[in-house]
Amino acid sequence: MRNITNDICYIGVNDHEIDLFEGLYDVPNGMAYNSYVIMDEKIAVLDTVDANFGDQWIENLEEALAGKTPDYLIVQHMEPDHSANIAKFMEKYPSASIVGNTKTFNMIKLFFNGIDLTGKTVEVKDGESLSLGSHELTFVFAPMVHWPEVMFTYDSTDKVLFSADAFGKFGALDADEDWACEARRYYFGIVGKYGVQVQNILKKASALDISIICPLHGPVLTENLDYYLDLYNTWSSYGIESQGVMIAYTSVYGNTKKAAGILRDKLLEKGCPKVVFCDLAREDMAEAVEDAFRYGKLVLATTTYNADIFPFMKHFISDLTERNYQNRTIGLIENGAWAPMAAKIMKGMFEKSKNINWLNTTVTVKAGVKDENISQIEAMAEELIK
Ligand code: FEO
Repeated sequence: MRNITNDICYIGVNDHEIDLFEGLYDVPNGMAYNSYVIMDEKIAVLDTVDANFGDQWIENLEEALAGKTPDYLIVQHMEPDHSANIAKFMEKYPSASIVGNTKTFNMIKLFFNGIDLTGKTVEVKDGESLSLGSHELTFVFAPMVHWPEVMFTYDSTDKVLFSADAFGKFGALDADEDWACEARRYYFGIVGKYGVQVQNILKKASALDISIICPLHGPVLTENLDYYLDLYNTWSSYGIESQGVMIAYTSVYGNTKKAAGILRDKLLEKGCPKVVFCDLAREDMAEAVEDAFRYGKLVLATTTYNADIFPFMKHFISDLTERNYQNRTIGLIENGAWAPMAAKIMKGMFEKSKNINWLNTTVTVKAGVKDENISQIEAMAEELIK
């Protein structure tokens, strides 16, 4: 437990037991499930934590309460990493009410078989307020950031924005690591598809006077908030964050890797500020996805495989297009000994993607890299460096 302001306490937990967050994302430094209490005439708790940490969370809560009883549990997000302990909370504090919106209460019924909340709900609308005494809370709906029921809570007294999953990151709070890298991987993995919705909530947030952001994952943000808000604006508008080229490749016997490597070396010789060289079979897929969104230029190099493309490349491109990949330059390197078709298939996978600038040069390797491929790669490097 620690104080964020005089009246707001952190009561979340660190999870170092988890291997895959949401059953999908590798989290080598664990995960934090944040939860907060606002102590006032009325006491409000904001969100619970993952099911495995219910007892520890209740202990943290009890310490913060110092013998008092909470009046409200505000449910900002129903994904179980935050909502799993709602029933446990209601059993322990039967006089408390749950604050949520219509969608929240529908989801509570879906997740908690037979739960009876009769007379224990406070249903709020977008923009509605709840007074705790000296703290005035306003609920700001943030649909699809990252589920439809999500709402942020703004405390105008302490100028704190409780931002649900937004501004969260992978990693437990005791992990010593850079914010942006794991926040970017989290953002594009989990919320990346919903850039429009994040833009909408950023517009709403810009009207608020915010001193502190309290997300449901990752550290509480207390300084230099423009840095985080600017990054969120770039990410959610599918803007280019850093100059450079990502070369994402798969290679069966090393020939496609060789072609990709020649391109990397040429780009570096020509002064490209950054080249990310990524083996999709071995790199963490979410890390590869965040790099594709970080830089403005992407080269995809893969083999023709089962009259399709190599599986890791197929997975990677699907991850990008599902997340509305757009506003980027893409170049293609294909390999196929007898019927190369990878470039055509890769290009087809971006059919619905907006504002893709295709390089004029496509490199076709037939098995091993030949002299003519070197010329093609040179032409590709020239186009990329322009
Ligand atoms: Fe942290 Fe969408 O749950």
